[in-house]
Amino acid sequence: MIKKIGILTSGGDCGGLNAVIRSVTLTAINKYGWKVYGIKDGTEGLIRDPIDAIELNLKSFESNLMRLGGTFLGSNNSGNPFNYMQKNGKRIDVSDKIINGFNKLNLDSLIGIGGDGSMKILQKLTKKGNINFVGIPKTIDNDVMFNEFSIGYDTAVNVATNALDMLQPTAASHKRAMILEVMGRDAGHIALNAGIAGGADIILIPEIKYSLKSIAKHIEKIKLKERSHILIVIAEAVRKEDGSKAYVKYLNGQVRLGGIGNYISDRVSNMTKVETRVTVLGHLQRGAQPSHKDRLIASAFGVYAVDMIAQKKFNRIVVWQNRKITDIDIDKVAGKSKTIDIKDPLIKVAKALDIYVGEI
Ligand code: F6P
Repeated sequence: MIKKIGILTSGGDCGGLNAVIRSVTLTAINKYGWKVYGIKDGTEGLIRDPIDAIELNLKSFESNLMRLGGTFLGSNNSGNPFNYMQKNGKRIDVSDKIINGFNKLNLDSLIGIGGDGSMKILQKLTKKGNINFVGIPKTIDNDVMFNEFSIGYDTAVNVATNALDMLQPTAASHKRAMILEVMGRDAGHIALNAGIAGGADIILIPEIKYSLKSIAKHIEKIKLKERSHILIVIAEAVRKEDGSKAYVKYLNGQVRLGGIGNYISDRVSNMTKVETRVTVLGHLQRGAQPSHKDRLIASAFGVYAVDMIAQKKFNRIVVWQNRKITDIDIDKVAGKSKTIDIKDPLIKVAKALDIYVGEI
């Protein structure tokens, strides 16, 4: 008999997380009469002593939580429990601690909300601890395999599209080439979708090679025939000409993708004499108010995940396929990443609109 379930958010936050926690809690309590425990800061809450988890109830959601970005449970995207960095800088395996924490809470099942990286960790962890696990995909990168829409992706694409809407008038006023660098890790979903929706002239994604010469030629052509300003969208993992990616190193030693916009900007302005400016959109894509679609997907995924627990369908991930929700074995998803196929219909759309999307 299921009586008590746990829920945690893992990896980078995004719009729609509070909505999915709400959906799980409301369904578990209203439909099944179960207790729900929200674990703090991803799996971190299970390592702490005392365990950092709170019982969630209907009152927990009486405020405007579902309308807000972020996750009120907290999350963590810098720790692998099998290789966990301690305060003294040494790395140890804390997986047993997490499993013990889970067992101490006396939970019958765990819902983990995460992206491809988190799913891989949670798969390993729940297998080791024999934990009844259901995964829900969330990530602005939208790179979870066999899943069309991850929670948070739509909000991020909207933010990037809005950014292009706001860059266009200032680009036109100053006859500039405006470069917008967006997130997405190794997948170009945000860049391609927002680029088309936001009327970009050039979209660079990690999946397709570009040539600086072709970019310059495309800019010259637009300036000659169409208009004096240009919009360029670049995904953060697009490579430099030597094949390396652009990174930012933070003072605490963390290394994150970033900087390719400036790299391309310097080269493009040199080659074309067009004035360029760069906007790095960054975490606005994550913290924005969740879109209607993300709240909807979050609500539907939450209900489905709780129903799966009731049916004892474990070690599976909820996915969106062909306009409906279904579930898939976690082993098929974990460790894989859904990037853009060059045969993606949107590439054809972009090319027909005379958007430069690389050398294809
Ligand atoms: O995976 C989500 C994501 O926002 C990526 O698009 C980005 O590369 C990364 O996380 C940024 O991580 P952090 O929040 O640690 O800077």
